[in-house]
Amino acid sequence: MNFFKKSVPQDPAAEVDFDHLPRHIAIIMDGNGRWAKKRGLPRTAGHAAGAETFRTIATYCKDIGLDYLTVYAFSTENWKRPQDEVGAIMGLLKKYLLEAISRMERDRVKMEFFGDLSPLPQELQDLCQRTREISKGYDGCQVNICLNYGGRDELVRAAQAFAARCAAGEARPEELTEERFSQYLFSAGVPDPDLVIRPSGELRLSNFLPWQSAYAEFYFTDVLWPDFSKEELHRAIAAYQRRSRRFGGI
Ligand code: IPE
Ligand code: IPE
Ligand code: MG
Repeated sequence: MNFFKKSVPQDPAAEVDFDHLPRHIAIIMDGNGRWAKKRGLPRTAGHAAGAETFRTIATYCKDIGLDYLTVYAFSTENWKRPQDEVGAIMGLLKKYLLEAISRMERDRVKMEFFGDLSPLPQELQDLCQRTREISKGYDGCQVNICLNYGGRDELVRAAQAFAARCAAGEARPEELTEERFSQYLFSAGVPDPDLVIRPSGELRLSNFLPWQSAYAEFYFTDVLWPDFSKEELHRAIAAYQRRSRRFGGI
């Protein structure tokens, strides 16, 4: 007889309907710095731990059959940070991509990048390009890494690209629809996120996918990204599945 049974917390996986997962989950991977600070470690140690969590969560999303995972790794605003922190983040990204490339045949995860990659170190740009090229034919889970991504920057670029086509006489302003505009975004061809998760206790989007998340469901948790686990992901998905999405209808 198990006298402790009642005190065992219920596994949140039990509440997830794995046959009806959201198609696209987007995550703002926040809280690395505070995680490190709490342990008396440099912020860069938090980023290293966060990269580990990303590996675990991305692999798990692939294993459960999620179609799309989009993660916010570095924003257009993150350049304001001290140079050594930015450099450490770039180094971790490089390490991650090298490993991802070595596992590609086995994992068959399609990888894409949202953001203007041109200000990134050349070596990192080349790795992004290689990752994209190798995985472009894969049709399992697609992981989109937002790198030097900013939602406003994305919208301005899209507006410029469409305006340029108009100026060249290839399009007319009145032909622009929401669907067509979406094709000018970094996320062209990717369905909008159904669920946006932000760990770390902050209740804001910080310039993440403002167009694409217009009708997303949001899940906020105080857990810091390096501590984010499969269980926390289950909680988020279960919360999503309990909601009623009406898209303006009744
Ligand atoms: C997120 O963690 C990682 C990046 C923004 C690159 P932070 O570094 O923002 O962690 P906190 O918010 O300071 O705890
Ligand atoms: C958002 O987190 C960017 C990423 C997680 C990559 P920030 O830590 O940069 O956001 P703010 O500054 O708290 O809004
Ligand atoms: Mg932060």
